[in-house]
Amino acid sequence: MNLEERRLLSIDFINYTLVFLNAYICYMKKTIFFLCVCVLGSCNAGMDKKIDELIAQMTLEEKVDMLHGHTMFTSAGVERLGIAPMKYADGPFGIREELEPNSWMPLRLTTDSATFFPTGSALAATWSEEMAWLYGKGMAEEARTRGKDMILGPAINIQRIPTGGRTYEYFSEDPLLSARLAVGYVRGVQDNGAAACIKHYALNNQENNRGMVDVVISQRAMREIYLPPFRAAVEEAGALGVMAAYNKVAGSWCAENDMLLNKILRDEWGFRGMVISDWYGTHSTVKAALSGLDVEMPGNNFFGQALLDSVRNGSVPEEVIDQKVANILRVRLTIDPIEETSHINPVSTPEHGQIVYEVASKSIVLLKNESNLLPLDLDQNKTIAVIGDNAIRKNATGGIGAGVKARYEITPMEALQQKTRDRANLVFARGYKGFSWRDRVRGGVLGGEVLTGTGGMLSGSDASAAQLDPDLLAEALEVASGADLVLFFAGNNREVETEGADRTNMILPSLQDELIREIARVNPNIITVVVTGAPVDLSNVDQYSKAMLVSWFNGSEGGNALADVLLGTVVPSGKLPFTFPVRLEDSPAYALKTYPNFDKAHYAEDIFVGYRWFDSRKIDPLYPFGHGLSYTGFTYSLPQTNKDQYRPNDVITVTFRLENTGSFNAEEVVQLYIHRSGTKVEFPEKELKAFRRIQVDAGKSKKVTLKIPVSSLRHWDETARDWALEPGRADLLIGTSSRDIRLTKRVTILL
Ligand code: GLC
Repeated sequence: MNLEERRLLSIDFINYTLVFLNAYICYMKKTIFFLCVCVLGSCNAGMDKKIDELIAQMTLEEKVDMLHGHTMFTSAGVERLGIAPMKYADGPFGIREELEPNSWMPLRLTTDSATFFPTGSALAATWSEEMAWLYGKGMAEEARTRGKDMILGPAINIQRIPTGGRTYEYFSEDPLLSARLAVGYVRGVQDNGAAACIKHYALNNQENNRGMVDVVISQRAMREIYLPPFRAAVEEAGALGVMAAYNKVAGSWCAENDMLLNKILRDEWGFRGMVISDWYGTHSTVKAALSGLDVEMPGNNFFGQALLDSVRNGSVPEEVIDQKVANILRVRLTIDPIEETSHINPVSTPEHGQIVYEVASKSIVLLKNESNLLPLDLDQNKTIAVIGDNAIRKNATGGIGAGVKARYEITPMEALQQKTRDRANLVFARGYKGFSWRDRVRGGVLGGEVLTGTGGMLSGSDASAAQLDPDLLAEALEVASGADLVLFFAGNNREVETEGADRTNMILPSLQDELIREIARVNPNIITVVVTGAPVDLSNVDQYSKAMLVSWFNGSEGGNALADVLLGTVVPSGKLPFTFPVRLEDSPAYALKTYPNFDKAHYAEDIFVGYRWFDSRKIDPLYPFGHGLSYTGFTYSLPQTNKDQYRPNDVITVTFRLENTGSFNAEEVVQLYIHRSGTKVEFPEKELKAFRRIQVDAGKSKKVTLKIPVSSLRHWDETARDWALEPGRADLLIGTSSRDIRLTKRVTILL
C-alpha cells in the first residue's frame, strides 16, 4: 500500500470513527433524555399515586378545609395524615415581617427582618436572566429560613401605564424581557427549595379601581403582550403557584375566570400547581370552584361551609374538589414543610447582601453624561453638594404587601460619605420634604390630585400655588453655591408609588422641578440621580442636568451600588425596561383616553404597548426603551446570519462583532429587534426578540451569537384562534437600545 493509499485509508478511518462517535453521542443523548423522561415520568407517577392514596383517606370536610385560608397567610393541611399547612410569604422583593395570625398587624418581632431586594423594574434594568436566578435563590433561602413554603412573587404584569401604582413592582413594558426575568426568578426560587407564586394573573395593569375594573382586550394583545411572562414561568420554569388578580377580564373576575384558569393556564399551558386568589379577591363559590380557583385567601366566605354545601347539593362534583386537593398536594409534596419552632430566625446573610449589591450595581442606568462629568473626579470636585431627601431616604417599607422590614439599607448619602471619606467634602441639604403618607391622606402635592385605590380622588392643593419650603430652599442654595458640583437626588419614593393607588401624573413630587431651577441659578454643575421605580417627567430636570442616572428603589445595597457607579468603581450597564415619555399624554392609554377609567378598561392600543406604540406612531420619547450609557463605547460590526431564508421550524442564528473602544472594562446589553414588512398582518414597527449581557474588556472585541426561533415570530390569528406564522421580510435590527440600532440584516420568512 503506497503512502497516498495509506493517507486515504486513515482519512476514511477517521471519518468512520467520527460518524460512529456522532451516532453514539446522539444515541446516548436520546437514551439520557429517555431516561430523564422515564425518571421524571416515574416521579410524577409516583407522586400522583401518593396523592391518590392520600385523597382516598380524606373526608370531604378535610378536603374542603384545605381550600381556603386558615390564617391570614396559611392554608390548612390535614394533620391526621401528616399533611402540613401551606405557609405563604409576601412580597416579591423581600420576605415580609411576621403578622398577627388573623390580621394585617405586624407582630413587631426583633427576629424577622430580611434583605431588601431591588424592586421589579430595577431587576429588569439588569436585562439578565442570570441575575434574576440569583435574586430568586436569595429570596428562597430567606423564605425557608423563616419557615415559608410559597413566596407571593414575582409580580410579572406588563407595565401598561407609566403611572401605575405597581409599575415599580413589575418588570417591563416588553413581554420578552418580562418573560426571561420571570423564568430566571422562578427557577432561582424553586431550585432552592421554595415555591414561587406568579402574580397577578392576569391583566392587573392598574391600581385605580383594581377590584372592579373589567379589562376589554383582543385575544391577540392578551396572547402576544400580557400573557407571555406567565406562560414562560409555567412552561419553562414550572411555577408551582399562580395568584389570580383582583380585576375582571372579559366580564369575569380573574378568580372565577374559566378562560384564564382552566382553558389557558391548565389546558393549554399544562399548569399542574395551585391557583390562589389575591387577598379577598374571591367572589363566588360554585363559579370560582368550577372555573379553576383552588384556594380562597384569606378566610372561608366562599370555599368554607358554602363549598361543602355546594358539593353536598351536587352543584360542585366531588371530583372537582379532589382535583383542587391534588393540585395543592403536588406543591406540598414538592416543598418540604419546616417545623414551626425553627422559622423565626434572622435572615439576610452577607451572601444575600452580595446578591442584592450585584443586582443593584447592574441595574443603574446612565441616561446622559455630558463632557464625561461621570465618573466623579474628586480632584476636580473637592466640595460636593448633596441635595434632596432621596439621598437619605430608605425605600424598603411602603407599598403595602411589598414592604420589607429590612435588616439594613445603605442610603446614597451613607455610601458616599463612607467611600469618599477623606477625598471629598460632602455637604448635605434636604432641599425638599419627601412625599409622605400624611401628604396622601391630606391630598398631597403630587403636582395634582391623587387617586385612591378605590377610584376616589383626593384633591391636592394646586402645585403652582404651593411654595418651596423657604428654609429648605435657602439651605440648598447656600450649599449649592459653595460647592464645585451638585448631586441632586430627585424622583419618587414608595409612598408615591404604591399598591392601591395610581399617580395621576408623572410630575416629580415635592416641587423638585422648581427646586432644581433655583439651584441651577447658583451652580450649573448638576448631576441628577433619579430614584424611581416607574417613568417620571424628566423634561424639566433634564435641561438643568449635565449628567443623569436612574438608581431605582434599589435594595439594601442600593446606596453602595450607586456610589460605586458615581465613583467609577462600577461601570454603569443598566438599560431602561420601559420608555420615559416626554409627556404622559404621549403614552398609548392616555393618548387614546382609555385611562383613567372606571368600570371598563379598553386596551384600545392593542399590541402597541410601550415602545411598540412610540416607534409605530413615530413619537419621540425622552429616553427610549433599552437605553443606557456606559463609561466606555461599543462598536458593532460584521453582522451575519446562518441563512437568508427561514422556515417555521428554523432558528435564525445571528453573529456580529462587539468591540469595547474605551478604557473601561464593561458590560453591554446587546438587543435584537425585528421589523416585519411585506406581510398581510399588521405588526409593530419593531419588537424585541433577543438580548444578551456581554462583558468586553477595554480595547477588546467579542463575537456575539444570538438565536431567534422562527416560532417566536408568530402572531395570534384571531380568526384561526391560534398562533400563525406570517411570511415576508424580517429586518434584524441589532443595537444598544430600541432607538440606537447599529446593524441591520434582512432575511426572508417562508412557510
Ligand atoms: C395584595 C396584593 C398581593 C399580595 C396580597 C397579600 O393586596 O395584591 O400582591 O401578595 O395582597 O398581601
